[in-house]
Amino acid sequence: MSDLSTIRSEVLGAVEQAADLAALDAARVAALGKKGSVTGLMKTLGSLSPDERRSFGAQVNQLKGEIEAALEARRNDLSASALNARLAGEKVDVGLPPRPESQGTLHPIGQVMDELAAIFGEMGFTWADGPDIEDDWHNFTALNIPPDHPARQMQDTFYLPKRADGTPMVLRTHTSPVQARTMLDKDVQKMLADGGSLRIIVPGRTFRIDNDATHTPMFHQVEGLVIDRTTHMGHLKGCLVDFCRAFFEVDDLPLRFRPSYFPFTEPSAEVDIGCSWKGGELKIGAGDSWLEILGSGMVHPNVIENCGLDPTIYQGFAFGMGIDRIAMLKYGIPDLRSFFDADLRWLRHYGFSALEWPSLTGGLGR
Ligand code: PHE
Repeated sequence: MSDLSTIRSEVLGAVEQAADLAALDAARVAALGKKGSVTGLMKTLGSLSPDERRSFGAQVNQLKGEIEAALEARRNDLSASALNARLAGEKVDVGLPPRPESQGTLHPIGQVMDELAAIFGEMGFTWADGPDIEDDWHNFTALNIPPDHPARQMQDTFYLPKRADGTPMVLRTHTSPVQARTMLDKDVQKMLADGGSLRIIVPGRTFRIDNDATHTPMFHQVEGLVIDRTTHMGHLKGCLVDFCRAFFEVDDLPLRFRPSYFPFTEPSAEVDIGCSWKGGELKIGAGDSWLEILGSGMVHPNVIENCGLDPTIYQGFAFGMGIDRIAMLKYGIPDLRSFFDADLRWLRHYGFSALEWPSLTGGLGR
């Protein structure tokens, strides 16, 4: 009898004190395993008289039940506290700043396009698009470059097979055909008739037969076009001065407007920005040298007429600029061909963070 109550308090004590699931299992084996203390009691039953066996057997069975219930309760406790300990240890710190694990970079061309959009967007321009594969009429004829006109020689054109209907096709040599596409748009014409003002930039791919350190057969331009009833050459100047100063981030950047010729503008001007070369290094800003960066002019009345608008009512200016070129100048990238080599090392060096969107207030680039 005393054996029973000793075993009872020993076993229940061990269960109660088991600090983890392994210790609990050891307590279970020590009581109910093959050589366990309670199992040992069961083995003594055979040597008892039938009466004793009945009453002692009942007590041992009751103890077994009690021990199993205690084991079960303790097991639940221990697993709950193990889970709680894990939950406490694995807390997510939502205040942890993002880790600097940038996975890729933006190509300088895309970056500069975003910068153009930020600056011209601030001046009320929207972004327009046109096809890379263009018909001869939009690329040349609409822009006052008729077939057989010597001005066609100005651009070394990739000619494509004619379309099935006989239309001659080219890879567009400039973004200027989008001037024509936009002016011809019925909604744009209605907006202009209602007294509105058309302001677009057209960043995109262009193609010419050319290949050296500063020319690739595929390159990028941005076209600008403003059409309304009153825009004049003074606006052209102001717009381009503001743009160049914002883009190159030089507040007193000098600009030089040189008379020039384009078939689709009259008068026409090429624009240079001030710079200096010290120890072979280019510095953009007031200096003793000039760099040509764009062509511009007042849209030729023939172009306005070709695009279905009345040149006695509408006027405006246009400009075209090489995106690759201004990217090279601004970010000191020496060889244009490297832009299109798709070399990851180059991209890691010259690329931009995709998370820093250029803006005039927040900053354009590095
Ligand atoms: N399209 C011209 C070029 O590619 C640039 C330009 C555009 C000039 C608009 C004047 C006006 O050379």
